[in-house]
Amino acid sequence: MTRVYIETYGCQMNEYDTEIAQAVLKDDGFALAETPQEAEIVLLNTCSVRENANRKIYGRVHALRHIKSDLKIGIMGCMATNFKEKLLENNNLGIDFVIGPDSYRRIGQILSDSKENPDEGFDVKLSKTETYEDIYPIRQNGVNAWIAIMRGCNNFCSFCVVPYTRGRERSRSPLSVVKETEQLVKEGFKQVTLLGQNVNSYQYEEQKFADLLQIVAQVDGLERIRFTSPHPKDFPLDLIKVMAENDKICKHIHLPLQAGNSRILDVMRRTYTKEEYLKLVEDIRNVIPNVVLTTDIIIGFPTETDDEFQDTVDVMQKVEYDSAFIFKYSEREGTLAAKKYDDDVPEDKKTERIMLLNEIQKAHSLKKNLAHVGETQRILVESEETKKSDQDVQGRNDGNKLVIIPQNGYKVGQFVDVKITDATAHVLKGSVV
Ligand code: 5AD
Ligand code: SF4
Repeated sequence: MTRVYIETYGCQMNEYDTEIAQAVLKDDGFALAETPQEAEIVLLNTCSVRENANRKIYGRVHALRHIKSDLKIGIMGCMATNFKEKLLENNNLGIDFVIGPDSYRRIGQILSDSKENPDEGFDVKLSKTETYEDIYPIRQNGVNAWIAIMRGCNNFCSFCVVPYTRGRERSRSPLSVVKETEQLVKEGFKQVTLLGQNVNSYQYEEQKFADLLQIVAQVDGLERIRFTSPHPKDFPLDLIKVMAENDKICKHIHLPLQAGNSRILDVMRRTYTKEEYLKLVEDIRNVIPNVVLTTDIIIGFPTETDDEFQDTVDVMQKVEYDSAFIFKYSEREGTLAAKKYDDDVPEDKKTERIMLLNEIQKAHSLKKNLAHVGETQRILVESEETKKSDQDVQGRNDGNKLVIIPQNGYKVGQFVDVKITDATAHVLKGSVV
């Protein structure tokens, strides 16, 4: 049996795709290796969203060659679609396979066929319909299972490579999602996280995202539903109400802002203004007062002035996110922004801006976390130790915040009521009630 090891980079969608690819490989008679050393084939499931994600992969391929010189190495995921030509132009990395995100159904066949004919090792065609809805992923045992409910993206935000690497939007049937969730509950999973590049743009026949959430919430034995990442443009009041009315749907919304200035949002093609975004936050907080809000922000988009950047600061001050991922703009070849603009915000200016936002965010995270001290929260245990200690366990509260409590025989998958006693900007600490 040929042994294959898959290493995953990037977002949760990639983690899910790795589980899909593993299921196909196993079905096709391959063995799944636990380490690269044990494998004949190593596949890197890659991300292309920023340049440093790409760089990491080049470094990793070189390192793998050192580990084992006769390894066959393949690139899966977003870099596959994005860089097929570049990877192969002067294939000095010696890549044997390039397999795009819509080709995983054929992954076993691709690996087998290319033994006879190396040209067969490359398939990056994108599909308008592939959702893998009939493939049951091979998951690690745990408390949370990812389920991709839609794939691809039609938005073409001007900075973003995803529409090119993952193709157009398509959604899988509600019935297939419910069946998979029921099976997961039988296997002991307590939580599902519904995934999509624009998860709330989900649409299957007449069913929209809010309908799907309600249907999944009816699955007996399922305790928590999360989703990521939504786009602010598809957040109607009925979706907010469905979240508010349903105990199983966690009160955490990751709501990418990207920028606070309306002109920058316009050239980013985000389809909302600063005021519209703030109004959405207000609506959400009116209906779900205790909601945890997190975000993604890009600083240094081409032409962003100091004044325009101040609008991002202003939105952060007004919203006070629980946490935020803040990125420097990274030019992606082929995107609308790359075609239209030079990457003209100087690097030291980008550094200055990101440092300022990180500082602001740290203060907000600490303030938000400290506000939980004294509360009693229900924690789902995720790990029977923490990075720092095997005397503690860690879990997450409804808002997806990490909570650390002293070990007391707690097992992964168990719910524990915890009194929050202390907090840092990164974690809550608690004791059992
Ligand atoms: N440069 C920097 N950050 C980017 N993101 C997407 N594309 C880029 C880019 N070209 C960020 C966005 C998105 C997150 C997943 O990555 O903030 O929400
Ligand atoms: Fe990276 Fe986006 Fe692809 Fe996920 S979908 S791997 S974040 S480029």
